[in-house]
Amino acid sequence: MRGTSLRRPVTIQRLRQIAVTIKIKLLLCCCIVLAVVFFASRASDLMGWTCDDCSTAVRYSTPRKGYAIVINTWKRHDLLKKSIDHYTACMGVESIHIVWSEPSPPPDSLVSYLQQTVKANSRDSRETELRFEINEEDSSLNNRFKEIKGLRTEAIFSVDDDVIFACSTLEFAFSVWQTAPHTMVGFVPRMHWIDRSKGRYRYGGWWSVWWSGTYSMVLSKAAFFHSKYLDFYTNHMPSSIRHYITNNRNCEDIAMSFVVANLSGSPPVWVQGKIYEIGSSGISSLGGHSERRSQCLNIFVEEYGGIMPLLPSTFKAVDARRLWSW
Ligand SMILES: *[C@@H]1O[C@H](CO)[C@@H](O)[C@H](O)[C@H]1NC(C)=O
Repeated sequence: MRGTSLRRPVTIQRLRQIAVTIKIKLLLCCCIVLAVVFFASRASDLMGWTCDDCSTAVRYSTPRKGYAIVINTWKRHDLLKKSIDHYTACMGVESIHIVWSEPSPPPDSLVSYLQQTVKANSRDSRETELRFEINEEDSSLNNRFKEIKGLRTEAIFSVDDDVIFACSTLEFAFSVWQTAPHTMVGFVPRMHWIDRSKGRYRYGGWWSVWWSGTYSMVLSKAAFFHSKYLDFYTNHMPSSIRHYITNNRNCEDIAMSFVVANLSGSPPVWVQGKIYEIGSSGISSLGGHSERRSQCLNIFVEEYGGIMPLLPSTFKAVDARRLWSW
């Protein structure tokens, strides 16, 4: 009797001890799991908020080969300096080509200033190549799409001298272009529509795109495209279109949209991105602009045998890291 009465409390005590150690272990496990979940969520939060992390993540996933910037400039050396200052500091920019159509060659002071800028912005012994593409005695708007000798990249970012894009914005647009390298990828969408009452095409500006959410061109004042299209534009596009552009000093961007759409059979891609305007607004603020653009559309369609190559799209590429909600 005694033996059993003594033994029973002992076994109960042991059971209690075992229960306590199990509880402690469970508690520890919970703490570890919670800690892991907490740090994991914090880490992903940080990824979303600091842009250094984002851009390294993107850089690892894109090939080393970058893109060339082709800047169209016209007698605005201060704007050119600002642009070069900015773009030579961007990752992924392999070379910068300045399309020079002024009657006199670039002044020495400008050249030496730009060379110093390139040196100052070089990193890890990596220097952006800077070149003037000089067009003597010829200021045609077709110059901006002349073939570039010795180009090391397939991708071209064509840009005017009076707008600037952040390096991260460019890198994002470049990654979009890499998924669709046969078409144009750009920041300034425009559209065409059919005026049935007059049986002709009309050019739609910013307002039309906003109203309909549809576009069929991205302007070459800020767009990526494949360098092969320079050859097509210069050597294979009907020469009547090039003559029209030279004579009217307009619509070279519409013509390039036609070339790319006709050969790729695809609409362009509009990428969201902030545009910093550093110069006064140019030709698009002049009166009668839209009518002249409509005229270009109709004349070019005739040259394409009456077939409109442009295709509409409602697709907009947005950097998911900059979205507030899904
Ligand atoms: C349109 O593209 C086709 C090839 O798909 C080509 O044969 C034709 O010449 C192009 N049209 C113009 C006007 O460039």
